[in-house]
Amino acid sequence: LHIAIVAGSTSSEHDVSLTSATNIYRALKEITPNLYPLYLDKTNQWMLLDATLEAPYQDISRAKPILLQKEDMRLDILSKKQQKIGQIDLFFPALHGKFGEDGAIQGYFELLGISYVGADVTASALAMDKEFTKIILADAGIPVLPHLVINKRDNEYPSFSDACKELSRDILFVKPARAGSSVGISKVQDQMQWEEALTLALLHDDKILIEPALAVREVEIGILDDGEQVHASIAGEIAYEKGFYDYEQKYSAESQVQLHIPALIHETILAEFQQLAIKAHQKLGIKGLSRVDFFLTKDSNEIFLNEINTLPGFTDKSMYPLLWQSMGLSQSHLLKKLIESSLK
Ligand code: ADP
Ligand code: DAL
Ligand code: MG
Repeated sequence: LHIAIVAGSTSSEHDVSLTSATNIYRALKEITPNLYPLYLDKTNQWMLLDATLEAPYQDISRAKPILLQKEDMRLDILSKKQQKIGQIDLFFPALHGKFGEDGAIQGYFELLGISYVGADVTASALAMDKEFTKIILADAGIPVLPHLVINKRDNEYPSFSDACKELSRDILFVKPARAGSSVGISKVQDQMQWEEALTLALLHDDKILIEPALAVREVEIGILDDGEQVHASIAGEIAYEKGFYDYEQKYSAESQVQLHIPALIHETILAEFQQLAIKAHQKLGIKGLSRVDFFLTKDSNEIFLNEINTLPGFTDKSMYPLLWQSMGLSQSHLLKKLIESSLK
């Protein structure tokens, strides 16, 4: 089986994707020699990285432009001079956010007729969109936070105090409807911050979500769906002293965030998280994998499902691979299962 990993793209999570791809490439190397490190550059040009390197995604300066062309049932990787470099039977998207996690690249794989790991076009698009995710989950009886939607094309945006009144809260979160890694997200306490937050979020998406800011614990569950059974992992908790789980806290070396695996929660709450995570994964029609992120309110232990990620991070600080590792599933073993499920 010839597998092509894809990372990068014009997404605001381009750099996170390269870090995920580094770990995915390393783990897949343990199970197959037939591996192609593909890279979509910041203009979405297809490139091939140097597979002789141990960590090709750490040296994108060596990327060479390529063409992908279908011959019979397989996809050929060609050099610009049309010389054949290799063949692809399966794509492993190590992409996050726009074009990678929203159904766009999945649609491209579908058109090519080549199998790929993870959620299909519809499920990817739905899970990427925080508004549509909530509508579907609320309809299924899964608790989600109330929200307001602001569209760029709206003639008038509500004031901070109007939004606060609507959501019965004096601190709000403003977020792009379709982004990730906390990019474009702000916690807002007054009208000036509100205006800055709307401007920032609208740089990342034409649709933004406003939510009440709650004092929460953050708990995440990994889902592994082998096509027959949907397995939920144990829970992991993200703990931090100040602010929120923003981009710096997620990825910087100075991050003060602590990951508690397993999360210190009562077993009945754990069972509820697992059952809600499986239900949400299935309701959205996701395949292969997802990471389901919850809030647990600090004052009353109330549960809300925050969001579902169909291509969760695989960085060293990312919860999804760490949860499975703590359950005895190494990263290579986990990826092997994902590949097997995508070929069913
Ligand atoms: P992303 O898809 O970018 O991860 P999230 O909706 O998960 O977006 O928000 C990122 C982080 O912002 C969360 O992990 C949490 O720390 C904080 N956050 C988002 N919404 C809320 C909220 N309504 N109340 C409290 N914290 C929030
Ligand atoms: N969007 C990032 C990669 C995550 O959810 O892990
Ligand atoms: Mg999140």
